[in-house]
Amino acid sequence: MSNCKTELLSKIEGKTAAVGIIGLGYVGLPLAVEIAKAGYKTIGFDVQAQKVEQVNRAQNYIGDVVDSALEDVVKSGHLSATSDFSFIRDVDCVAICVPTPLDKYQQPDISYVKGSTESVAQYLHSGMLIVLESTTYPGTTEELLQPILEASGLHCGEDFFLAFSPERVDPGNKQFKTKNTPKVVGGVGQDSTEVAAALYRNVLEGGVYEVSSPAVAEMEKLLENTYRNINIGLANEMAIICNRMGINVWEVIDAAKTKPYGFQAFYPGPGLGGHCIPLDPFYLTWKAREFDYHTRLIETSGEINTSMPEYVVDRAMKILNRNRTAMNGARVLILGVAYKNDIDDYRESPALNVIDHLLEQGADAVFYDPYISEYKHKGQVHTGLTELTDEELKSADIVIICTAHERFDYDRIQSLSKEIFDTRNAMKQVKDRSNIELL
Ligand SMILES: NC(=O)c1ccc[n+]([C@@H]2O[C@H](COP(=O)([O-])OP(=O)(O)OC[C@H]3O[C@@H](n4cnc5c(N)ncnc54)[C@H](O)[C@@H]3O)[C@@H](O)[C@H]2O)c1
Repeated sequence: MSNCKTELLSKIEGKTAAVGIIGLGYVGLPLAVEIAKAGYKTIGFDVQAQKVEQVNRAQNYIGDVVDSALEDVVKSGHLSATSDFSFIRDVDCVAICVPTPLDKYQQPDISYVKGSTESVAQYLHSGMLIVLESTTYPGTTEELLQPILEASGLHCGEDFFLAFSPERVDPGNKQFKTKNTPKVVGGVGQDSTEVAAALYRNVLEGGVYEVSSPAVAEMEKLLENTYRNINIGLANEMAIICNRMGINVWEVIDAAKTKPYGFQAFYPGPGLGGHCIPLDPFYLTWKAREFDYHTRLIETSGEINTSMPEYVVDRAMKILNRNRTAMNGARVLILGVAYKNDIDDYRESPALNVIDHLLEQGADAVFYDPYISEYKHKGQVHTGLTELTDEELKSADIVIICTAHERFDYDRIQSLSKEIFDTRNAMKQVKDRSNIELL
């Protein structure tokens, strides 16, 4: 066993290793808190000074992080944050949790991963572990990170260790959090896998599953999210067909899911949202082209899912038409702009596209979301209603439910609204269905 590996493993086991987390967002902050809670000295790095200040003041800004947990680890001195990357010199392990968006040509924008790896490379020292957690195309760890880090003169597998371990956190999930979700780890060589797995086993409780390479770990994450993307595409297509046939798609799915094997329920909606499911499959599409392969299922599912906001507006228009009301000039109240229920994240939310299409049709569209007071979209700030008053509900020609927040009082919404188009089956418990139409 190399000296570096023995020393690092003993620091990890003895909790004397210092850990750096690069990127203190939805993924990085919960992970930093767990690592600090496990007893490691943890330093969070972020380019946003505001986040750094908030962490150092123990001011929580991520829904999945418990306020008191952040307070405890900051007060005890286990967690601090900085924008000064020279502190990488002081850490033994680094987890990179920076964004991996798509650029305007729908191609991977890997610049955040590259930039943060270059920051690490500047201060790389012997005996370090670097783990990439950002979702990305297969090959990123070995083709992009390893050469940047080895340009320092240190060798991967001998002087330092490098692995990929995808983050699987599902914001807002009440059962599975960072702490208890199983972790997949694939290192560059067995030693890297072992060291990275040791760190996670000492911090998390969901178990660690080791794979033979970073590429396997990178690809398995894309399989997880592509699977969701395509199955949601199928559910959306079923919703469109069912509507034409006069069949309730929600009842169909409920019936299908009584099968105890071979079927997993996915649900239709106004489109796909979030930083992951709509984008990640296109990392695979891009990489597959290098191997002369066209990812047909991903493209088709993408087409269906991106057409959903316009479909929702078409259906709303038909509901209004039955009441001899034109969409042009109609008051339309959107309930929920978060991309999913009970969270405050509107990244890629289909509700924003629904609102764009409504505005294009001349509708007087307004929104209310108990978690989001305003959002920025295509360079414009949209401000929502501050309260869901009786008057707002009564005056809307149609209410469109885009996010099934539990905090909405659906009975009240039903009793006060003229027409409701429920794109999430959020009102399934409401008895009087006379003014409710389902997607
Ligand atoms: N949000 C999720 O639900 C989720 C779930 C699983 C995986 N992921 C993946 O995890 C990664 C991070 O996602 P997120 O949702 O946490 O993003 P985020 O935008 O919430 O956080 C990323 C943070 O990284 C910081 N950052 C950017 N460049 C940096 C740099 N060079 N150095 C230091 N900090 C930098 C940003 O300021 C930001 O605070 C992405 O690859 C995403 O696909 C996200």
